Amino acid sequence: MLKKILKLTGLALLALLMVLAVLFYTQVYDYQRYPLKVDRSQFPGVETEQDIEQLAQNLLSQMSLDEKIEQLYGEPGSSIFKLAINLFGLKRFPHIYAGRNERLGIPPFVLSDGPRGVRVSDDHGGATVFPVAMARGASWDVELESRINDVIAMEMRGIGANMAATPCINLLRHPGWGRAQETYGEDPWHVGQFGVAAVQAVQAHNVMASPKHFALNSIENSRFVVNVDLDERTLREVYLPHFKKAVQEGGAVSLMSAYNKARGEYLSNNAYLLNDILRDEWGFEGFVHSDWFFAMYDAVDSIKAGLNVEMPLSKVYDAGDIKAALDSGQITEADLDGLILPALVVRLKYAFAEDRMDYSPALLVRPEHVQLAREAAEASMVLLKNEDVLPFSADSGQTIAVIGRLADVVNTGDRGSSNAKSPYVITPYEGLLAYHAAKGNRVVLDDGSDLLRARALAASADQVVVVVGYTYEDEGEYLISTDSMKESAAAGRLIGEKGVGGDRENLSLLPSDVALIEATASANEQLALVYIGGSAIDMSGWVDQVPAILYAWYAGMEGGNALARVLYGEVNPSGKLPFAIPRDSADYPYFTPYTDNITYGYYHGYTLFDKRGSDVAYPFGFGLSYTRYRYDNLRVLTPMLGEADSLRVQVDVTNTGALAGEEIVQMYVGFANSQVERPVKLLRGFDKVALKAGETTAVTLELPVSELAWYNDKEREWQIESISYEVYVGGSSTNEDLLKDAFSIR
Ligand code: BGC
Repeated sequence: MLKKILKLTGLALLALLMVLAVLFYTQVYDYQRYPLKVDRSQFPGVETEQDIEQLAQNLLSQMSLDEKIEQLYGEPGSSIFKLAINLFGLKRFPHIYAGRNERLGIPPFVLSDGPRGVRVSDDHGGATVFPVAMARGASWDVELESRINDVIAMEMRGIGANMAATPCINLLRHPGWGRAQETYGEDPWHVGQFGVAAVQAVQAHNVMASPKHFALNSIENSRFVVNVDLDERTLREVYLPHFKKAVQEGGAVSLMSAYNKARGEYLSNNAYLLNDILRDEWGFEGFVHSDWFFAMYDAVDSIKAGLNVEMPLSKVYDAGDIKAALDSGQITEADLDGLILPALVVRLKYAFAEDRMDYSPALLVRPEHVQLAREAAEASMVLLKNEDVLPFSADSGQTIAVIGRLADVVNTGDRGSSNAKSPYVITPYEGLLAYHAAKGNRVVLDDGSDLLRARALAASADQVVVVVGYTYEDEGEYLISTDSMKESAAAGRLIGEKGVGGDRENLSLLPSDVALIEATASANEQLALVYIGGSAIDMSGWVDQVPAILYAWYAGMEGGNALARVLYGEVNPSGKLPFAIPRDSADYPYFTPYTDNITYGYYHGYTLFDKRGSDVAYPFGFGLSYTRYRYDNLRVLTPMLGEADSLRVQVDVTNTGALAGEEIVQMYVGFANSQVERPVKLLRGFDKVALKAGETTAVTLELPVSELAWYNDKEREWQIESISYEVYVGGSSTNEDLLKDAFSIR
């Protein structure tokens, strides 16, 4: 009997092994990378865009129903098994294909993540890792953002991808949002400018950009379940303008739909947003793909709403369900064709397009890319407070104390989908050590775990750098099961196990960081506090104790080097906050990580604080420098405008200090005479100018009048009021920093 059982078990094991071997061979070993370009000899005579559109029609008409259905999801014929092996086993990420059809010679799109650098597999040895997007938003430098995305796109092509799951342009409604670091800031206009720059730079390398997550995705922990309610004006004027710009000005050929619901409908089947607004109103001709695994619920609803491709594989767009829906008449084959064709046209256009250069893995982490990562980190850092402390003197013979749990850890941001690996990362300590090596200075590291020891070190040093903030454990993309998310949202608190990262329920620093600040701040006047994180923190408890504060963000692979250069004045800081920080965190709009329903109001960030007259600790657009700038002679060059005109204003900016620097000049428009509810003022222009000590330059800012429209929800159209408007220009959004004039629209 025992023998028989053993024999049967043996046979079962053997059978299992054989199945696994076959699966391994067919699904993994045999797995190849497919070319991104068409074989032109297969398609003679196809030259123009019209030829490609015609070709797409022809190819579609040759597809069987099964082949058509395969166009609707990632990795045709895929399985979780294959995906898992690829992602985690062979570390082949990002080779996630969609839309390939070998019989007809149709190449796939191959997607990679990458808001702060390409997500590459280990076998490539890493990619260039930039500061997070929020940091780059603080640079207010869209030309820099364009150069960064040029590199990201080149490196993407270098590893064989041609579709970027970037840029993330969701709005920072509340600083607690876990994925704040992946976007650029709180203001739709500012985020829109960055979105356009990123999309255009990425697509110039024939990488399809995919702005995400469309739309209203600004809470992380409940993202699979939360419903966002909002009125039409709030939707149109606050949460959509940057997406509209990325599509219309940027020319984005793809969008990633969000996990959450808007007005009761999941975004993956939200016909109002996907069809009525995106396609019918904005004229979007590209394709929409879902966010991953948990974004889709109903094949028929999504097909009808115009969700073109389910990612990363077929879960809801299931062949059986789709065929049943066709049989029962819920959908028609023409509905499927309507989804397949736009995606096919885009893919073919990219597959036929001439490339600017040859792409190979040799493009990864080139010295000029690394140099750009450092430049970006330097341009991003925001000096919030400086009581004659910085820049530190770089004289020799000094002792520099670098204190804090984060002073010497690799910390480039969250470990979710935006995680990117570089061959090395310079920590704050390493950057300072390298900087001082040539100067004969001693750099002493302390992890801050013993407060008495840290205080004694701070007191004995010539200069002190205290490093505080967060890691991927405190904020970032969040993964818990959908069930746990649902239960937590219903209860309004976490039920089950806490995931890593996610939203910040509390905007304070961790208690150990606060204790470290309190222990060290008064020990030495030559002390700078360096904050590492992706969004605003509540500084109210300790801000008065600290003589200097620098927001360094998650600064990328060269962050430590950039930090040393900023602290010691090799670089004059020029970053400015892409969000406002109120004195009292209770002034932020309502936010909770665990909810299945939330209402987004018309005001948040500086527009809310302006409206309420809240006391703001650090205004939107604020940041200090080691020099000073004076603004004079604001002049409106176009005092009377028609609806088709552009506003032009000019201002003289003078560097009145002794150091060269770069200033971010901002323009806001005010609506005091409006007949409808409007914000006090809105950002409508910015420019970055380099000024030598003593130099004056005239800065001209321009704005199409159409950018001043408001959305009349009764008449369902954008309207421009014929009134007089205020225009403000200066170095931050606070009144004391702004010159004021007026112009009129007739
Ligand atoms: C994220 C997306 C990301 C995708 C693929 C999702 O969980 O929300 O932003 O692009 O995963 O990694």
